[in-house]
Amino acid sequence: MKALTYHGKHDVRVETVPDPVLVESDDILLRVTATAICGSDLHLYRGKVPGLEDGDILGHEFMGIVEDAGQGVSKLRRGDRVVVPFTISCGDCFFCSKKLYSACETTNPGRGTIINKKDVRSGAGMFGYTHLYGGYAGGQAEFVRVPKANVGPLRLPEGLTDEQVLFLSDILPTGYQAVLNAEVGPGSSLAILGGGPVGMMAAACARLLGVERIFMVDRNAYRLAFAAATYGVEPINLQEEDDPAAHIVGATANRGVDATIEAVGFEAKGSAVETALTTLKLEGSSGSALRMAIGATRRGGVVSVPGVYAGFIHGFLFGDAFDKGLAFRMGQTHVQHHMPVLLEHIENGELEPHAIISHRMSLADAAEGYRIFDEKKEECRKVVLTP
Ligand SMILES: NC(=O)c1ccc[n+]([C@@H]2O[C@H](COP(=O)([O-])OP(=O)(O)OC[C@H]3O[C@@H](n4cnc5c(N)ncnc54)[C@H](O)[C@@H]3O)[C@@H](O)[C@H]2O)c1
Ligand SMILES: [Zn+2]
Ligand SMILES: [Zn+2]
Repeated sequence: MKALTYHGKHDVRVETVPDPVLVESDDILLRVTATAICGSDLHLYRGKVPGLEDGDILGHEFMGIVEDAGQGVSKLRRGDRVVVPFTISCGDCFFCSKKLYSACETTNPGRGTIINKKDVRSGAGMFGYTHLYGGYAGGQAEFVRVPKANVGPLRLPEGLTDEQVLFLSDILPTGYQAVLNAEVGPGSSLAILGGGPVGMMAAACARLLGVERIFMVDRNAYRLAFAAATYGVEPINLQEEDDPAAHIVGATANRGVDATIEAVGFEAKGSAVETALTTLKLEGSSGSALRMAIGATRRGGVVSVPGVYAGFIHGFLFGDAFDKGLAFRMGQTHVQHHMPVLLEHIENGELEPHAIISHRMSLADAAEGYRIFDEKKEECRKVVLTP
């Protein structure tokens, strides 16, 4: 089959690889009908995450048709159309029983990314996301093996297109969980840092839940313009405003917003000094977006972080967070928990996640898709690939 494989920094290729096979009895084999490139894939593409091997298949946002199912699969059968969560979860461990699916302690034989690990087990395995997360082959491919098929894949009703439901696999629940974690609702004010796909999904979900005022910070004017037109955000362009937190505080009676969603992650672009700190490894992650989040949030507010982090940050203003009495919520998304309710919102026409798609390409052109999405060329917001 054809699949998108990793060969080093900025080097991904569509190649012929062996077809996947059923391994465990509760596996399915999926024929992929649509898959997307995620901002998290860009961290891999830029060579920022260790644990990838030459030829590893990437991709964790995908959906398709069940081609074959193991004997232990009771919930699905050949021919079913499903969307698959990026987290692989067993459904009955300590964490899965608390619906904390991304913390599943049985599916990741890899090390995970915790530095001070002690004997803590790794969180859930993930598709196409390095051997730190279990080394599972990803879904930017014609076929993919899906383990734990009684727990993850969500069977889809008739009448919805692939594009309407594809983002249930990752960015839609991620934006939704970020908004739930932010504890905002009717009458609230919210700042969203990052106008990428996750920031956009957070804006859509914040609107759904009645948030009154949304600021969005990014450095790409075209993404901000789209979010302003589609979700009514108040755009703040980092290229024009060098202290967005000060702007947000000034626009909210010198208090700050009720909550901030940090949808940028550890590669946040900051000042020259901040870039130097990360280059010299004095900071493991860029702290610039987190510092902005602390600065923009009112006393007693929440900083909700879907953006991915790894390792340490020195310039973390913990004292400011303490003085303001902030709460922090973060982590990988518990996708399985949020998918059913979000599917209902899509069916009711209350959510249209596919509105953000800017590029529809063939899987064969996936390498070009990565380049365009990474370099923010052609006003790229989101790339969907079809095998
Ligand atoms: N928690 C989860 O389960 C989960 C799931 C999906 C994605 N993610 C993470 O969410 C983050 C965003 O993903 P995406 O798909 O939207 O990616 P993306 O790279 O397309 O979007 C990031 C956006 O942030 C902007 N940006 C860069 N520096 C900034 C700064 N200092 N302040 C404000 N904006 C800045 C960029 O211009 C870009 O538009 C990534 O870190 C990704 O790994 C996490
Ligand atoms: Zn992702
Ligand atoms: Zn589990």
